[in-house]
Amino acid sequence: MAAVPELLTGFLSFSIVKRAIDKGVVEIYVHDLKDFSKDKHRHIDDYPYGGLAGMVLSIQPVFDAVSELKKQRAYDEVVFPTPDAPLYNQQAANELATRENLLFICGHYKGIDQRIRDHLVTKEYSIGDYVISGGELSTAVIVDSIVRLLPGAIGDEESALTDSFQDGLLSPPVYTRPADFNGWKVPDVLLSGNHRKIEEWRYEQSLEKTKRIRPDLLK
Ligand code: ADE
Repeated sequence: MAAVPELLTGFLSFSIVKRAIDKGVVEIYVHDLKDFSKDKHRHIDDYPYGGLAGMVLSIQPVFDAVSELKKQRAYDEVVFPTPDAPLYNQQAANELATRENLLFICGHYKGIDQRIRDHLVTKEYSIGDYVISGGELSTAVIVDSIVRLLPGAIGDEESALTDSFQDGLLSPPVYTRPADFNGWKVPDVLLSGNHRKIEEWRYEQSLEKTKRIRPDLLK
């Protein structure tokens, strides 16, 4: 459910997500929260009680939209992406990918009425310690991370399992032809044909890279 559904159009029309939809791996429906407004100008936001800069997404359109959608199917989770929440990570993606039906509320403005979070939302995630302008893009990030895990979504079944974070480490470097580009060479081991050595090298590279760039992941 989005305040600005148009922000999701591009995301749903290209990429792995589009292919997964076409292959019937996943169904995604976008609902415009403005369609649930009872305001004659289709407003879905209002001034915050107590005074504060910015507008707040009102409870009524969200409540009505959630109620209507819950009549059509049972939802395993109602997800609200928001910066004031636990950080989203691969483990959360893996968990969400096992659920049947998910409902995302895309917030906008300064935030959403807290009662929506208290009574309707079951999972909250932040996609990082920064603020973006709306929940559509953070929802797109989360949905993409889930869809790529669904069986049949990506051609090479193995490749989601070898993503960064799936083993708690960052991915090792990858190379493709040519083996020598103006003197910049691909590591010899990758050309050796020795799969055990290649696996060892990849693991060492992952570990070294994680220690260097993201030591927090090793704690
Ligand atoms: N909406 C705005 N900023 C966000 C963030 N960092 N994570 C999730 N949703 C957001």
